[in-house]
Amino acid sequence: MSKILAIETSCDDTCAAIMDGDRVIANVISSQIDLHAKWGGVVPDIAKRAHTERIGGVVAEAFKKSGLLKGRKLSKKSEEEVIEMGMKEIDIIAVSQGPGLAIALGVGINKAKEWAKNYRKKMIAVNHIEGHILSNWTKNREGKPERDIKLPGLVLTVSGGHSKLVLIKKIGEYKVIGETLDDAAGEALDKAAKLMGLGYPGGPVIERLAEKGKKDFIKLPHPLEHKDTCDYSFSGLKTSFYYQIKDWPKEKISKNLNDLSATFQEAVFESLIIKFKKAIKENKVKSLLACGGVMANSRLRSKLRRMAKEFELPIYMPEMKYLNTDNAAMIGTVAYYKAKRKEFVKDIESLDREARLEL
Ligand code: KG4
Ligand code: ZN
Repeated sequence: MSKILAIETSCDDTCAAIMDGDRVIANVISSQIDLHAKWGGVVPDIAKRAHTERIGGVVAEAFKKSGLLKGRKLSKKSEEEVIEMGMKEIDIIAVSQGPGLAIALGVGINKAKEWAKNYRKKMIAVNHIEGHILSNWTKNREGKPERDIKLPGLVLTVSGGHSKLVLIKKIGEYKVIGETLDDAAGEALDKAAKLMGLGYPGGPVIERLAEKGKKDFIKLPHPLEHKDTCDYSFSGLKTSFYYQIKDWPKEKISKNLNDLSATFQEAVFESLIIKFKKAIKENKVKSLLACGGVMANSRLRSKLRRMAKEFELPIYMPEMKYLNTDNAAMIGTVAYYKAKRKEFVKDIESLDREARLEL
């Protein structure tokens, strides 16, 4: 079975994974959160520099962890030597092509192209969002979880860069049913966190604070609720939140962080659920799925489980926590299916990043 090196650098995580067929045998994530936190969001130039500095080390570590170089004295080898040895063991290099931050994507793509040319490997270009979707198919070294996901399915993909409802006709064949018209769900959480003077990324901070908060502390809208589409809008929600707290003294905000977080988070999640339900009613599907950074949130996970029960449909979400946020294992999973369909990059030289790549 093909062995694949997968690379992901679309935002602020430098990631590499090694696949043995559809199984992940190594997964390395070098997070840059510490570098961006003080700016309250991802700074593209800083991300580019960090990806450039880290990509070699991350790939070398993935090769070391994969077990493919067992029995070699790796401790004395340089990063380049480990990469050279590792490259002999793999067949394909897969890379995230977009959507994402252009200059961040460029680092992964250029490195992947350079290696593919030097080591004569086939290449596969992967859509980052398809990566998130197929993270529900990602298997560990033992082949777990074993899932028999019946298609067509309906998947909610929610992260800092996108929020979409997608019909999966079969693996590799998708139809976008609804998407955000402005901010992504994670972006809305990040911006609300910033308004409250909390850290970045906002999603996890808000989740923690919300645990002890009242969910109806202030009145927030569910944008587009009565519109006959499955599209989302989160910027109005953020604006409404902003106008309600903008004149509050700092102490009043900090005293009410739990309630504000719980109320904002609930409004975002209710919006997601309202349109998900509409999409289920309008599309005959056999399974429901969810993925993306925001799915790390336990409140959203339990709301979705309850929703699935109402419709008596199975719901799948990534089991392993790392699969929710950005990682290269999901990119490797897409590459596994593309390799089966022989969808390789035809002309490596002309492969380029696509910051706005559609599904
Ligand atoms: O998928 P991801 O790692 O990167 C993108 O492709 O955007 O998603 C990052 C987003 C951020 O907006 C972050 O605030 C959100 O996911 N996030 C969460 C949680 N963990 C990460 N949102 C809510 N609850 C969480 N526990
Ligand atoms: Zn992502």
